[in-house]
Amino acid sequence: MLPGFATSQGTARYVNRFPDLREAQHFRQPLHVPGVEQLRLSSIGLGTYLGEADDATDHSYIEAIATALRRGINVLDTAINYRNQQSERNVGAALQQSINSGEVDRDEIVVCTKAGYLSFDGNVPADPRAYFVSEYIDSGIIDPRQLAGGMHCMAPAYLKNQIERSRSNLGLETIDVFYIHNPETQLAGISREVFHQRLKEAFGVLEDQVKSGNIRFYGVATWSAFRVPENAPDYISLTYIEQLARSVGGADHHLRFIQLPFSLATPEAYGLNNQRIGEEKRSVLSTAGSLGIAVAGSATLSQARLTRDLPNFVSGILGMKNSAGNAIQFARSTAGLTTSLIGMGRKEHVIANLEPARFPPTPAEEWNKLFMEQVGS
Ligand SMILES: NC(=O)c1ccc[n+]([C@@H]2O[C@H](COP(=O)([O-])OP(=O)(O)OC[C@H]3O[C@@H](n4cnc5c(N)ncnc54)[C@H](OP(=O)(O)O)[C@@H]3O)[C@@H](O)[C@H]2O)c1
Repeated sequence: MLPGFATSQGTARYVNRFPDLREAQHFRQPLHVPGVEQLRLSSIGLGTYLGEADDATDHSYIEAIATALRRGINVLDTAINYRNQQSERNVGAALQQSINSGEVDRDEIVVCTKAGYLSFDGNVPADPRAYFVSEYIDSGIIDPRQLAGGMHCMAPAYLKNQIERSRSNLGLETIDVFYIHNPETQLAGISREVFHQRLKEAFGVLEDQVKSGNIRFYGVATWSAFRVPENAPDYISLTYIEQLARSVGGADHHLRFIQLPFSLATPEAYGLNNQRIGEEKRSVLSTAGSLGIAVAGSATLSQARLTRDLPNFVSGILGMKNSAGNAIQFARSTAGLTTSLIGMGRKEHVIANLEPARFPPTPAEEWNKLFMEQVGS
C-alpha cells in the first residue's frame, strides 16, 4: 500500500510543474477550510462513475486517469460501488503506474472515495441477494435493521469495513477525502431524528478513522439533499450536520468537504437560498464558505447532456469553443466552488476538457449575466 497523502508541499510541487495552468488560476487553495487551506486542488477533477465494469473500460479509465495526472488534474473522485469496485481499482492502478514512471508523487494527488451503497465485487453474481446476505449480513458486518431501502447503510461497522476495502482497492494507506454517499437516500425510510443519530454515529467513526490515519477528511456526497427546498423530505441542513460533526469531533472536526451536482443544468448550490446561518437564508456555496467546508461539484456536464446544443448566449458570455467547454467554464468560474468533477473514461476527453483550464475563470459580473439571460429568455 502506498504511504502518504496529499500535502501542502506535494500539491505546491505539482502546481509548479504547470505554470500556464497556474497563471490561469486552475489550482485552488481553499483558504477558508481548516486543515485543507494549504492544499492546491485542480479546478477540474476526474470522476469515475459511468461505464461498464469490463476490461476494455478498465483499460480506458487507467489511460485517462494517467493522462489527467500528467496534464494537470490532481483531484480524483471515485466510490466503492462505481463499476462494482473496478473504478477504485483503476484509480489505484493509474496512480501506481504514474508514481512508478516518476510522473507524480503520492503527496501531490487528492484521492476521494465514497461508501454507502452495497456494491458487487467486479462482476454481478448469479444471485445478487445471496451474495449480499453472505457477504454482509451473515458475516455480521451489517445488522439488517441498519439497511435502508435494502441497499444503503452508514452504520459504523459497515463504514469501517468499506474503508478497509477501498484502501485495498486504491492501494493507499490513507484516503484523502472519504464521503458518505447520498446519505439522503435513507430519509425515504426513517425519521429525521433517527437519520441525524445515524449521521452522528457515522461522523464519530470517521473521526476515529482520521485518528488512525486511514482517511484525512470526510464529508457527504449528495445527489438531491442540498438542491431541494428546506421542506423537502430528502433535504439536509448543512449547518445542522456541521454541528453534529462538531459534537463528535470538536471545533477541529474533519467534516471538510461536501459534494453535490453543479452545472448549467443544476445551479442550485449558487442560486437557491435553501440553507440558513442563524436566521439568514443562504445558498449552499455561501453556507459552506462560512462553515469552513470545501465544495466539489459533480455531473459538470449533466452526464454528457451539456456537450451539445447550448444556446448561443452561453458561448457569447463564457467564450469557449464548444458546448462541453462552456459547461466546464461555467462550473469552474463559480465563486466558492473548489473543484468541478467531470466523468472521463477516455483520454481524448481529458485532453479536450482541460482546454478551459487554460483560461482564467469568467469574471463574476460576466458570469452573472447567464442568470439574467435565463430569466429574460
Ligand atoms: N451523488 C454523488 O456522489 C455523485 C453523483 C454524480 C456524480 N458524481 C461524481 O462526479 C463525477 C462527474 O459526474 P458524471 O460522471 O456523473 O457526469 P458528467 O461529468 O456530467 O458526464 C460524464 C460523461 O460525459 C462524457 N464526456 C466527458 N467529457 C466529454 C466531452 N468533452 N465530450 C463529450 N462527452 C464527454 C463522459 O464520457 P467518457 O466517460 O467516455 O469520457 C461521460 O459519459 C462522477 O464521475 C462521480 O465521480 C458523484
